[in-house]
Amino acid sequence: MEEIRKIVEQKYAEAIRKGSCCCGSPSGCCSAPGGKDAVTAGIYGEEVLEKLPEEMRQQTFGCGSPTSRAGIHPGDVVLDLGSGAGIDTFLASEMTGPAGRVYGLDMTEAMLETARKNAERLQAGNITFLKGTIESIPLPDESVDVILSNCVVNLSPDKPAVFREAFRVLRPGGRLSISDMVFLAPVSGSVRKSLDAWAGCVAGAAFVGDLVDFLSEAGFEEVRIVPERVFHFSREELSRMFPDLPAEAAGEVSGALASAAITARRPAQPWVEGTDYSIRTARPEDLGQVEELLLECGLPVQGVREHLESFLVGEREGKIIGTAGLETAGDSALLRSVATAVPARKRRVAETLVRRALDRAAESGARSVFLLTETASGWFARMGFVPVSRDGLPGAIRSSSALEGICPASSTCMKLELR
Ligand SMILES: C[S@@+](CC[C@H](N)C(=O)[O-])C[C@H]1O[C@@H](n2cnc3c(N)ncnc32)[C@H](O)[C@@H]1O
Repeated sequence: MEEIRKIVEQKYAEAIRKGSCCCGSPSGCCSAPGGKDAVTAGIYGEEVLEKLPEEMRQQTFGCGSPTSRAGIHPGDVVLDLGSGAGIDTFLASEMTGPAGRVYGLDMTEAMLETARKNAERLQAGNITFLKGTIESIPLPDESVDVILSNCVVNLSPDKPAVFREAFRVLRPGGRLSISDMVFLAPVSGSVRKSLDAWAGCVAGAAFVGDLVDFLSEAGFEEVRIVPERVFHFSREELSRMFPDLPAEAAGEVSGALASAAITARRPAQPWVEGTDYSIRTARPEDLGQVEELLLECGLPVQGVREHLESFLVGEREGKIIGTAGLETAGDSALLRSVATAVPARKRRVAETLVRRALDRAAESGARSVFLLTETASGWFARMGFVPVSRDGLPGAIRSSSALEGICPASSTCMKLELR
């Protein structure tokens, strides 16, 4: 294990000094100029590259774009495992904004030096680079919202330890977004023995089935591994990659090696009503916070002031962390403005607010509850709502101010019959 780590460190120190690339390089490590290698080429769009100084564009050693699907929010704490020269670290720092913080972790001093210079040049004041290994992350438990990693886990000789550590430092509900090299079929032990091919992001790539097991055993859920590019190598390239292997043994790599998008989540811990937060009827002084939360979630605020007394709010430590509004008309009710603040998401706060609003609707004599949603029809379907035609909306509900800000063409009308 130590031997692999030393070779990897040495090769990447050499690569950043020479301005060359290691990943998937058919001649072993560090041949083609950065960004032009088969694996690293074209992983970022022009709109990303144009934000980076020319020199930094040449310092990518990745095999995908984990920031693009990480769902990073302003204010998040992000950790980039094996941050290299810091390209993804910098992209994440733009997404978190000044209210967030991004940690870049790498074991290679030469990489860290370059990354620190890059962050200074880009005036990214919310980035901290840390020296250490991804198998023993120097951060406290439950301190990170999103973990990124670009073409690094394959280099680790102890992948289960990497995922155990990632799980430990992620907050409940936190997400993992990795781009990495994987094998789509198991490969023999002889392929794994080449240290140069290991440092070149080939021999250490895990079989996808093993990766799913490592992630699940660490405790992750919603594990997804989506192959993005499959690599085929000529006989000549293979013999340069594995000089000591017979052609047929090396041949099993071609068509089995792929870059993949790997995502997973640490299960969220639900917040308990009455212990972690409370639910109550909104008061006039809540109006500002309620409207702010709705705007943050892209929901309309028309009519909120007029109907505030029919809103339920979730409150935690004096702050409104969730809302659900109800407008009743005869035996029908309109459920609106279901929203939760970022820290309250994936903690069953929204479900609890909706259940309480439905109880209120039933108490007030409603037999059907309607809603319109542009983005959450799947979530409401899990709560028992079914899609209905908008023509089926009762007249009094149709004229509700809550529907004014909702686009009729792109929204789904849903209904729940109360028993
Ligand atoms: C292929 S490069 C990727 C760099 C960067 N993520 C990018 O996309 O350009 C791998 C990086 O991971 C670092 N690395 C490899 N194994 C590591 C480990 N076990 N712990 C910490 N860093 C590691 C190397 O020093 C190198 O900077």
